[in-house]
Amino acid sequence: MEPIYAPGLDHVIACETALSDVDGERGRLLIAGHDVEQLAPRAGFAEVAARLWGAAGLAVPPDTGAALGAARAAAFARLPRLGDALAARDGMDALRGAIAQLPASGDLAADAVAATGAVAVFAAAWARGQDGLSAIAPDPAAPHAADFLRMVAGDAPAPRVRALDQYLVTVSDHGMNASTFAARVVASTGSDSISAVAAAVGALKGPLHGGAPGPVLDMLDAIGSPAAARAWLTAELDAGRRIMGMGHRVYRVRDPRAAVLERAIAELERAGAATGRLALARAVEAAATELLRARHPTRALAANVEFYTAVLLDAVGLPRTLFSPTFAAARVAGWTAHIAEQRRTGRLIRPQSRYAAATPPRV
Ligand code: COA
Repeated sequence: MEPIYAPGLDHVIACETALSDVDGERGRLLIAGHDVEQLAPRAGFAEVAARLWGAAGLAVPPDTGAALGAARAAAFARLPRLGDALAARDGMDALRGAIAQLPASGDLAADAVAATGAVAVFAAAWARGQDGLSAIAPDPAAPHAADFLRMVAGDAPAPRVRALDQYLVTVSDHGMNASTFAARVVASTGSDSISAVAAAVGALKGPLHGGAPGPVLDMLDAIGSPAAARAWLTAELDAGRRIMGMGHRVYRVRDPRAAVLERAIAELERAGAATGRLALARAVEAAATELLRARHPTRALAANVEFYTAVLLDAVGLPRTLFSPTFAAARVAGWTAHIAEQRRTGRLIRPQSRYAAATPPRV
């Protein structure tokens, strides 16, 4: 077969999956067989993780919430043995170093639960360490989202937990995104699932993937008021900079996850627990959409998940440096399901490259 040259692999289907379906033309996202708009308000993170693992053929623990609780406790017990991994200045560097130290049991289901519990614990412990505070021990009986928030902030008011849980569900899986692909590439070599998760953490760190929500909040702060949005965005675009939280490799309409998160923030505002940034975010999104449409009439550039992620996670009370690690705390459910799916295929992912330099004469 003639090889296809496809930099960025945009139109290449690299595997089949039962885990999620991203319909970029219609703006529809299925996670474990359910529309994200229906799933996020109704199912908790542990339930969705169980559905993803089950769909990947893993033997799901009967009480996934309790299994995640036990995994959080086990990860917490490892903290004293992590050396200075969690002292890294960047949260994703810390996560990468800490995850890499988890032992891989070789049992994909057990490793999926262990890694998912551990990411939440390591992220929370890192964030507290940044403020000179000691880590808070998990409560294995608490739901995952509630315990994560409590381990970060010391308390977990119900409206905030509800919003965080919706976020964790909404971003738990998303087709062949870069970090999931990285995890699948490592898994396809027959390597262990902890190595695959560590690779995925590295991929998620990049600003074109999971690193955008912090900068979105910086942008909202810099703009300050709805009236200032247009001028600020125009100056950014004129300077050749990208607007964070806008545009997507797959979606040609607004990212459906942006709508789920926008609704969750509105709920939080009604409960009196938000920061009041929603009105500003909506105004900035409207101005950015219009300006980008004028500059790229043939390339639809609309809000992506990270636009409202920033507003939601801030309203929930997480520091912006913890946004990407929190994304990892959710996506690890998808990564570990994809790792299992990939291992079942037994197929090594190994594309080709096109040599683009001089060929010396053969001697
Ligand atoms: N702001 C301004 N211009 C943008 C843009 C943005 N957020 N996203 C894309 N564009 C422009 C590009 O500059 C390019 O313009 P050109 O044709 O004049 O060079 C055009 O739109 C097409 O962009 P392209 O790089 O082909 O899109 P992509 O599919 O590779 O990029 C993203 C997808 C997500 C990487 C890109 O939209 C982006 O950088 N967004 C900001 C970061 C972000 O929010 N990341 C989180 C993703 S969930």
